[in-house]
Amino acid sequence: MAIFKNSHPLNIPGPLYTDLSCIDCGTCFHLGPSLFQENSDDKSVVIRQPSSLEEWKEAKRAILSCPTNSIGVHEAPDSFKTIDPELPLRIDDNVFYLGFTARESFGATTYFIERPEGNVLIDSPRFHPLLVKELEKRGGIKWMILSHQDDVADHKKFHQHFGCQRVIHADDVNSDTADCEHILEGPGPFELDSELKIITTPGHTKGHVCVNYRNKYLFTGDHLFVDAKNQTLVASESVCWYSWSIQIKSIEKLLSEQFEWVLPGHGGWMNVGLSGGDEKLQFLLNNALC
Ligand code: SF4
Ligand SMILES: [Fe+2]
Repeated sequence: MAIFKNSHPLNIPGPLYTDLSCIDCGTCFHLGPSLFQENSDDKSVVIRQPSSLEEWKEAKRAILSCPTNSIGVHEAPDSFKTIDPELPLRIDDNVFYLGFTARESFGATTYFIERPEGNVLIDSPRFHPLLVKELEKRGGIKWMILSHQDDVADHKKFHQHFGCQRVIHADDVNSDTADCEHILEGPGPFELDSELKIITTPGHTKGHVCVNYRNKYLFTGDHLFVDAKNQTLVASESVCWYSWSIQIKSIEKLLSEQFEWVLPGHGGWMNVGLSGGDEKLQFLLNNALC
């Protein structure tokens, strides 16, 4: 629970507030860009109070998704309790944003693919009862694909509850993930089934992987991010833990992939409306290297 007496002094007055425990993960700015903003002290502040049901939904989504419980509603009316935050949140077709981010993974963005062949989680959110109930209603989880060692959060709890098969590359396995059911070895690519392809993209970490679902949705973990303001893709040397020169090669590798959506492990996602080999994709990926 956020603590009202520790509210950030620059919140716009009103019931919705952030407190000083914020770790600046960016989740709330992405989910409610008209309500939350990053302040110069690297904390989130409320810049406008919600004024419609849709905005209250955004606020509730941010409250549930904040990894540190740093967002609250002071003296929330009963009507707030009944608002449906619509999590998981549909992005496109059967691909959803999960919310409920985990502190251990610095609020990493995780995704859900709902499909008759078995549902998929891309990276691990927080094991929260509301989310677990939603996933149960949708048929549970068959695969949990871990893009890299940073974003594994509550993977053990999800495995114990749903019996999902966890997938991670051997080069990112540590004592916490050594019991994962599928440990990938070598450069790949690996096909879990006809729709799910795993591409090794070392750089951010040695065993980092991206997932291409149906040659349409590319889940990029911390390999490649979206710069929504400039409508382009970015990679970051400042958060490259293994090798930047190898990460550059891994970005070039994506030029031969087909995809239309980029869904990263932090911040927002983007429909790039492109497929592999396209000149504009080349431009975007080159831009990511700048
Ligand atoms: S979601 Fe929480 S931790 Fe992340 S920026 Fe917002 S208030 Fe801070
Ligand atoms: Fe990471």
